[in-house]
Amino acid sequence: MSYRHPNLTVVQSAAFDVLFTKIRDEKTSSADFGRYSRRLMRILAEESLSKLPKTVVDITTPTGAAYKGRLSIVDTDPDSVCAVSIVRAGDSLLESVREIAPSIRVGKMWIQRNEASAEKEAIHSCTKLPPGVKDMDIVLCDPMLASGGSSCSALDCLINTYGVDPRRVVFANVISCPEGLNRLAHEYPDVRIVTCWVDEKLNDSKFILPGLGDYGDRYFNTV
Ligand code: PRP
Ligand code: MG
Repeated sequence: MSYRHPNLTVVQSAAFDVLFTKIRDEKTSSADFGRYSRRLMRILAEESLSKLPKTVVDITTPTGAAYKGRLSIVDTDPDSVCAVSIVRAGDSLLESVREIAPSIRVGKMWIQRNEASAEKEAIHSCTKLPPGVKDMDIVLCDPMLASGGSSCSALDCLINTYGVDPRRVVFANVISCPEGLNRLAHEYPDVRIVTCWVDEKLNDSKFILPGLGDYGDRYFNTV
């Protein structure tokens, strides 16, 4: 299936080949799934945070040489950045983001796919965001983008209920597929997506193929 998205970054890393093989393998234990996926999410977190605003600075190196560099807003003004986890699987990626940027704010949205029917919309049951979130840069964390139901529910809440600017949202994602990318391109084209892999398609149960199963279940050992 083809896909088009105006604000998509597919992260390129030589490490992904091996890391994805480990997390896709059904024989990989939950402990190893956690270990390898954390290595992968660390790379994703760096790439996603690199999309946030930066300021130019003049520094001096230990050699005495002048150097014009750039600093990230996560270090210069961490209170103006909020990482939002789509609970539950998003909590794994949230921790990778917080290892790099421990001072940023955190928001949570409990959103579950409808297990009775993959055709029905996701169930969004709880939201906790910091005050003033509408003026913040947002890193939305969910390792999986399948039908796009969960991420669209989160974005609808952030943008239409809380007034967040879609151009200030970066959606950090481990594995995506054409169906989800096309839906987000249609509904939230200004939201930037950083994904590590675009898989082939969804199956009839809306699972990504070839995929890696249920990320949250494998990460939290609830298979
Ligand atoms: C999974 C995954 C995403 C969502 C993706 O969550 O973690 O949040 O499905 O699918 P979608 O794009 O079709 O909405 P799930 O509801 O299985 O819960 P979990 O995070 O607790 O595992
Ligand atoms: Mg989820």
